Amino acid sequence: MKNFTNVNKAVFPVAGLGTRFLPATKAQPKEMLPIVDKPLIQYAVEEAYEAGIRHMIFVTGRNKRAIEDHFDTAYELENELEASGKEELLATVRSLTPDDMDCSYVRQPRSLGLGHAVLCARSIVGDEPFAVLLADDLMCGPHGGPGVLAQMVEVFRQVRGSVLAVQEVPLEHVKRYGIVAGEPAGDRLVKVERMVEKPAPENAPSRLGVAGRYVLTPSVFEAIRQQPRGSGGEIQLTDGIAQLIGPEGVYAYRYEGKRFDCGSKQGFLEASVEFGMRHAEVGAGFRDYLRGLDFS
Ligand code: UTP
Repeated sequence: MKNFTNVNKAVFPVAGLGTRFLPATKAQPKEMLPIVDKPLIQYAVEEAYEAGIRHMIFVTGRNKRAIEDHFDTAYELENELEASGKEELLATVRSLTPDDMDCSYVRQPRSLGLGHAVLCARSIVGDEPFAVLLADDLMCGPHGGPGVLAQMVEVFRQVRGSVLAVQEVPLEHVKRYGIVAGEPAGDRLVKVERMVEKPAPENAPSRLGVAGRYVLTPSVFEAIRQQPRGSGGEIQLTDGIAQLIGPEGVYAYRYEGKRFDCGSKQGFLEASVEFGMRHAEVGAGFRDYLRGLDFS
């Protein structure tokens, strides 16, 4: 395998249908749903930027125009804010797309699964390692510490093989995750020997579930391409990554921090409450409001 060290590109698959959030996602992308005042996709882009990545690649689909607009310059809005002296808001809007950040967009013509969505980015990624971020998994690094993707990029530099973010999940939830098992390979690290997509609890080889952050070597593209369609006619990313276990080595990294599954209503609400409580502008008032609630 090539001696890759840097991760310069991130792929954001945002072409899913978001059926669990209907009717909210009928005419707008799930990734544009806000946690307090920022859309989910922006949290993920900021996490990638913090990890040193400057080229963001969005795999979009129908109804996803709002994401392109969000990361584009909004001249009318900026002029309006400038004219009315709203400097702070103007800075917020401009900070969305720093000058050294590039955005590319590619369409996934049909929702054929996460593996297929990643494959759509192949020609833009080229022959170099890259990150994949699922924006509906909202990840927070430890307080004052590096974000989850920044931690993973550091691990990638050391192991030079694909790295998957994992967390211990309750046994009754293993059927919602890709589950990995293997041998300990260092602090927070497991060298993966087996991967199973959404197993029944009795078939799960461990309780280590894959969260929506990956650093992958480019060989995964060919591995995905050769995959037959899995359950529901979809092409799974997990099946492609599993092909790299023997030839290259795949590592599961127990990230430091917390994940909110914002693809589910419960996770979305939990994130809204926690981010609301910590928010610089509304946090104090929101905490007062929560204290006064009657939970009986
Ligand atoms: P999900 O499994 O959450 O699917 O996809 P979904 O369609 O977005 O949501 P539900 O289950 O219908 O509510 C995980 C990630 O993979 C992307 C989604 O956008 C999401 O970020 N994805 C999934 C694609 O880009 N293309 C696909 O064909 C499938």
